[in-house]
Amino acid sequence: MKLEVLGISKHYLLPILDAVTFEAAEGEFVCLMGPNGCGKTTLLRIIGGMEPPTAGEVRIAGRPVTYGGNHTLPVGVVFQEDRLLPWQTLEENVALVLRPLGQGRAERHEVARRYLRFVGLHGFEEYYPNRVSGGMRQRAAIARALAIEPDLLLMDEPFGGLDAQNRRIMQAEVRRIWAETGKTILFVTHSIEEAVAIGTTLIMLSARPAHVRELIRNDGRQDPRRLIEELNQMIMEEVLRQQGGPVPGVP
Ligand SMILES: Nc1ncnc2c1ncn2[C@@H]1O[C@H](COP(=O)(O)OP(=O)(O)OP(=O)(O)O)[C@@H](O)[C@H]1O
Ligand SMILES: [Mg+2]
Repeated sequence: MKLEVLGISKHYLLPILDAVTFEAAEGEFVCLMGPNGCGKTTLLRIIGGMEPPTAGEVRIAGRPVTYGGNHTLPVGVVFQEDRLLPWQTLEENVALVLRPLGQGRAERHEVARRYLRFVGLHGFEEYYPNRVSGGMRQRAAIARALAIEPDLLLMDEPFGGLDAQNRRIMQAEVRRIWAETGKTILFVTHSIEEAVAIGTTLIMLSARPAHVRELIRNDGRQDPRRLIEELNQMIMEEVLRQQGGPVPGVP
């Protein structure tokens, strides 16, 4: 599903986003990077209709996103924390989000089991979140986002809390899900290596107020080590800019 972000600006007390503009074609895996606090989460919330922009428009499949408007908008969201309800089993957690879609209980649970199986959690349906590992909780959160069958999946640093090994496993898992479902994914990450490893389009936001500093098509033609180096250089510049200038001792 095509995503258009058109001149999105957001002001709270300070200007946070400054005319952020980019497009993602259907089926793209977009990785969004930028310094801490530059407005990545804010941008995701605006795209998901959870926050109104000060100016600009987001279109999903050509339809404008309205704040708080349409619940059936096909957007799935995975946050850094899994946000599962601890008093519900994994299956109940996934089934819960299907309620507003008007399916019956039996059908909701069948769909929940199907998606839990899809993310590798078959056999853990009846477990409570605190009885499974962090990686498994993130899988359940991904199953929950997929269960509503969104065409656009927003992921906000979903693996930030995982150890390096589980992070690698989950990266491969998300790549597989992306390849098998053809969904458009917008994935925020602080890891340049992660972005270069999994993204088809890499977007570097500038220091606050953020605009798109660079958009790179990662089609396999560039040398990944070179790309990582370039992006590391860019983000260092933006971090320093956001802090108000060069810091003594940092090259
Ligand atoms: N509801 C709000 N009211 C006022 N300011 C806010 C609000 N939400 C976010 N901000 C401000 O907007 C800026 C961007 O926040 P945001 O969480 O979008 O950044 P981020 O890029 O996701 O950061 P991080 O890399 O740390 O996750 C911050 O300066 C934050 O203080
Ligand atoms: Mg954030």
